[in-house]
Amino acid sequence: MADELSAFEAMHTMRAMRRLKPDPVPDEVVRELLDTAIRAPSGQNTQRWAFVVLRDPETRRFFGERYRDWIYKLLGDRVPDPADDSKGARLLRAAVHLGDHMSETPVIVLACGKRDWPFAVPPDKRVGKAPPSYGSVYPAVQNLLLACRARGLGASLTTAHQMFETELMDYLGIPEEYGVVAAIPIGYPEGRFGPVTRQPVGTVTHFDRWGQQRPDW
Ligand SMILES: Cc1cc2nc3c(=O)[nH]c(=O)nc-3n(C[C@H](O)[C@H](O)[C@H](O)COP(=O)(O)O)c2cc1C
Repeated sequence: MADELSAFEAMHTMRAMRRLKPDPVPDEVVRELLDTAIRAPSGQNTQRWAFVVLRDPETRRFFGERYRDWIYKLLGDRVPDPADDSKGARLLRAAVHLGDHMSETPVIVLACGKRDWPFAVPPDKRVGKAPPSYGSVYPAVQNLLLACRARGLGASLTTAHQMFETELMDYLGIPEEYGVVAAIPIGYPEGRFGPVTRQPVGTVTHFDRWGQQRPDW
């Protein structure tokens, strides 16, 4: 369709959108987003993902309060001064804003992964619970973020739930054979999408042998 973003434009402008409106996101839209997420690749097409969509206000409050408390604990005294306009300070302020408003975010998707030992870990070294299949879940998470961007929705990838994952899994009845890989708050954006800034591609690309780079890239 003519008014759809190109894949390149979506990838270049899909920044972490942490300031979201509380306006509801229709279920049909959430379905389309997740139906796009699951088009992602996974190891041997095992599709070891599962998603828990938090819509109920009480469930979002449970998640949001813990998320906010942990953001403050993790940041400690790094909560930036309002006068500081550096990039780092703006990022931290946005992360705090998301924490403060997580409970009001209309949809929070928890991307879960079935636990599975990476084959590089030999059977005799496998102690305790296997980690969730991160490598097979993150492509779906990226698809979800891009689908949000394409539909004009703001979203960001968060992982601070790790600090209360056991309590969260108990509360939501997530079975032990899964882990929660990422929590993605989704809503209509307060801010605007814009180009993401990254280190120039030439600085992270090597040709044929490490160290052979192209300054013109
Ligand atoms: C593995 C991973 C974990 C992340 N965890 C968090 C998080 O807990 N909270 C948060 O606000 N952002 C989190 N982010 C988002 C990053 O901060 C964000 O992608 C990065 O700063 C680039 O932002 P930009 O795309 O807006 O330039 C995470 C991103 C990744 C890939």
